[in-house]
Amino acid sequence: MSIGTTSGRRPVGVRIAGTGSALPKRCLTNADLEKMMETSDEWIVQRTGIRERRILNREEGESTSQLAADALKAALADAKLTAADLDLIIVATMTAEMSCPASASLVSNLIGAGDCGAFDLTAACSGFVYGLNIAHDLIKGGAHRTIGLIGADALSTLMQYNNHGRSTSIIFGDAAAACVIKATDDTSKGILAQSMHSDGRGWKEIYVPRCIQDLPPGVEFDENKLGHVQMNGASVFKFAVGTFPELIQQTLEEANVAAVDVDMYVCHQSNQRILHAARDRFGLPEDKLYVNIDRYGNTVAASVPLCLDELRKSGRVRDGHKVMFVAFGGGLTWSSSLWQL
Ligand code: UT7
Repeated sequence: MSIGTTSGRRPVGVRIAGTGSALPKRCLTNADLEKMMETSDEWIVQRTGIRERRILNREEGESTSQLAADALKAALADAKLTAADLDLIIVATMTAEMSCPASASLVSNLIGAGDCGAFDLTAACSGFVYGLNIAHDLIKGGAHRTIGLIGADALSTLMQYNNHGRSTSIIFGDAAAACVIKATDDTSKGILAQSMHSDGRGWKEIYVPRCIQDLPPGVEFDENKLGHVQMNGASVFKFAVGTFPELIQQTLEEANVAAVDVDMYVCHQSNQRILHAARDRFGLPEDKLYVNIDRYGNTVAASVPLCLDELRKSGRVRDGHKVMFVAFGGGLTWSSSLWQL
């Protein structure tokens, strides 16, 4: 099957040519958290499925953009390409070191990409899946041929590892993972169906206030809130349990693909119970919906590409497969991307 053409241009397909990931060295286990706040390994595992997560150390040179650069270098090596082959770098992140320049510019410098487009994309946990759709369509439209797309986040920089932050700090971990997306003459490869959604009315469900003016009306001022993720966990949980199956169903219908014909579902790793609910809703076998949240926690924009990298490296996702990517997160945002690899 040929996936669309661009009028006036030679039709191109789009492929994921390589993947890579980078993790901070420091591992924070549930047992470590037990020493920092009133929580327990049992509570965390039962409610989330998380056993440990990685936390970066800026004093040792680790940062969102450093991890992002390392992940992209690994993806380029996997694709047997160099930084000079890239014509655009996109970093999906909500934890750029600075508001200017973009992390993507820092990454471009770190990998020596030279003259290459670079921008950050902020859609919280949905950022990487938004990026897949955007990168695909930029190549499909003929404006670009080789794009480095990275999901990189360091939510540890927005956490309090004490009782004030115990409902969020147990969930999040730091990571970066990347893919190189490339034009190909094989027009059977690329996106079969995609979507990008947001409902700004839900912004108060997950936000990071910088100053008192950022607090929603009616929310009491507390200095501990500033600079730290504020999340209505139960409400986000409910939203996610409803959204994942709906998003998958709509995307399958648009592509006219049956749920059983998708080789792998790569879902944002937010909570093991949310993932299992989606799997049960479609009656999928255990090995078709990948879960690695036990080892990394919720790594925000890095979570989907981190799964993809592990799946490709283990051979469970390969050329010819159909793969469904779905994510949801702050904004509120949610997004899907069904690929013919
Ligand atoms: O990437 C998208 C972002 N976010 C998400 O996907 C998060 C979705 N939500 C969740 O995953 C869950 O809501 C959480 C894991 C965050 C929380 O689980 P929950 O089952 O919704 O717990 P809860 O917030 O309703 O709290 C239940 C109890 C409370 O105590 P009381 O009021 O019942 O006495 C909390 O104070 O658990 C308490 N609690 C904790 N206990 C031990 C909250 N955090 C902790 C903790 N350890 N770390």
